[in-house]
Amino acid sequence: MGFSSSTLAVPEAPGTPRHIAIVMDGNGRWATRRKLPRVAGHARGLDAVRNTVEACMRRGVEYLTLFAFSSENWRRPGEEVSFLMKLFISALEREIGKLSANGIRLHVVGALEAFEPRIQQLVREAELRTQDNHRLTLTIAANYGGRWDILQAARKLAAQRALQGPEALAAPFEEADLAPHLSMAYAPEPDLFIRTGGEQRISNFLLWQLAYTELYFTDKFWPDFDAATLDLAIAEFQQRERRFGRTSAQVKGSSGHLA
Ligand code: FPP
Repeated sequence: MGFSSSTLAVPEAPGTPRHIAIVMDGNGRWATRRKLPRVAGHARGLDAVRNTVEACMRRGVEYLTLFAFSSENWRRPGEEVSFLMKLFISALEREIGKLSANGIRLHVVGALEAFEPRIQQLVREAELRTQDNHRLTLTIAANYGGRWDILQAARKLAAQRALQGPEALAAPFEEADLAPHLSMAYAPEPDLFIRTGGEQRISNFLLWQLAYTELYFTDKFWPDFDAATLDLAIAEFQQRERRFGRTSAQVKGSSGHLA
């Protein structure tokens, strides 16, 4: 079952974000500054992924979503793309036991049919093996694009309506009709979005789901991201007043939920 919209519930007090989504940027620049090949930055980036998963678990974050490979990343040099694919395969093979033992449920979202069959098979196995875990849901966005997600959801909704007949197809499409077909319908919308590497863009990440998310940008390159940087982002999040379109006075007088 999916969450129709997390914007209907207003938290009593801003505590730990339930869902953090991260654009892990700056691997290439981290490496270039050290006169290393760009791919060395991706290898170190994987260490930062491990540390971040662990830090989120310790802080009680329930959902962590990482942008590992965008629909646009295929435009990178062939060698770099193939290194990233190998890194993805070895991470899936090596880390799955640890994820499972720590109660982590893994999801991979994106147009996975573009990946080699070995990757698709490893993803299916990893998702199956961890499906009953509930401590932290780790989502890797791979060959993902926010516009792709909205389009694929619209196509699924239209196909479902077509099966129900011409009247259903002609009926209006509402937000609540589309949301269950989005690729992350199993998760609440992100509370906190973090982008490392100094750029202040969403870069076609979760476009629909970030509508009310607090945005946090840091100049740190992804391989340097650590628990202390995560804590800075969470502390800043806790200072923000999430109004979801209402006035500040309304939020302060709120009993916690919109009528
Ligand atoms: C962006 O940095 C990073 C990527 C496109 C790849 C992210 C991959 C990892 C962090 C490692 C693997 C992760 C998993 C989950 C297996 P960039 O190369 O765009 O850096 P730049 O902006 O400095 O060039």
